[in-house]
Amino acid sequence: EGVSKVLFTPIVEESVSSRSKVTVVGVGQVGMACAYSILNQNIANEIALYDVVADKVKGEMMDLQHGLVFCKPVKISAGTDFEVTSGSRVIIVTAGARQREGESRLDLVQRNTDIFKNIIPPLVKNSPDALLLIVSNPVDILTFVAWKLSGLPKNRVIGSGTNLDSSRFRFLMSEKLHVAPASLHGYIIGEHGDTSVATTSDIPYKVPVWSGVNVAGVRLLDIYPNLVDESNPEKWADLHMQVVNSAYEIIKLKGYTNLAIGLSVASITKALLGNTRAVKPVSTLVKGFYGIQDEVYLSLPCVLGSQGVTSVVNLTLNAQETDQLVKSAQKLQNVQSQIKF
Ligand code: NAI
Ligand code: 2OP
Repeated sequence: EGVSKVLFTPIVEESVSSRSKVTVVGVGQVGMACAYSILNQNIANEIALYDVVADKVKGEMMDLQHGLVFCKPVKISAGTDFEVTSGSRVIIVTAGARQREGESRLDLVQRNTDIFKNIIPPLVKNSPDALLLIVSNPVDILTFVAWKLSGLPKNRVIGSGTNLDSSRFRFLMSEKLHVAPASLHGYIIGEHGDTSVATTSDIPYKVPVWSGVNVAGVRLLDIYPNLVDESNPEKWADLHMQVVNSAYEIIKLKGYTNLAIGLSVASITKALLGNTRAVKPVSTLVKGFYGIQDEVYLSLPCVLGSQGVTSVVNLTLNAQETDQLVKSAQKLQNVQSQIKF
């Protein structure tokens, strides 16, 4: 038709299939930070945006499209119809109601579960080979919900989990030592989701694995045994609570968190699409690990590839760390048992 008929001599029919299509579900603050990071880092060759608000999803699509001249080639599509998500390799779910004042964690869980009931089955139907990467909060519980609703094997349903908390942890520690955050290795494992609930009095079971914290393989606890003791004037132990409070603090300051989670999700997506075998702490089904009896999702360091979570790294946890994980699992199980599917 028209100009293209004059400009081009067709050789074969254009292919509509995409090697590395990523769908972002929910184009709020978090969804768009994910999409923007993925676009900037040239991770996907197609990004589809899905939301229930037609104007918003169209506006976000146009805004990204207008920057394509400055990026490597990417196709950007959007809509309120699940068709737009078809053939995705990774589906990032950030859709979710925010907690209203006076609501309990359980209210949020049920409300977002109800949203998931409407979106997970059609998403899977349109992309039967996709990996699901859940970001909506409370992320550990909603990853379990997505796994149940999807009927997919456990390796293909992943929560963004404590990849973000670990990044916060490493940043804070790197500031103390004046090294690049990526050169300071360490993991927060366990629970992420509760951070979203500003009114909770519970301290989330985010477990800092101090024993593994190292620079260039030199474990800080080996060279400085009282690292996390109260007596340490450098107050390293306080960094844990700073991580726990990070989200509350940012939400108080700017209303929401989005940029770091966008980068964290992009790094997970890159590992999945590129089959890179990167090890990251993400939320996975932990039944059977460390004596956990419950069918719950929690974060452990996982090997990531094109099949999702292909292995879990066996950590050498001490009794207290193991106890925190088990208690966290029981707490999540308690909430999950009250969900109406
Ligand atoms: P937001 O309110 O800005 O955006 C939510 C979006 O979801 C809206 O665009 C809304 O239209 C959409 N939505 C609602 N129902 C939908 C449906 N049925 N289908 C498709 N889209 C739907 O919220 P924000 O700030 O983007 O946060 C989203 C979620 O991410 C929240 O649950 C938040 O707590 C969570 N979050 C998780 C983090 C993590 O580390 N796992 C970090 C930061 C936020
Ligand atoms: C965060 O940790 C609120 O879960 C969100 O930034």
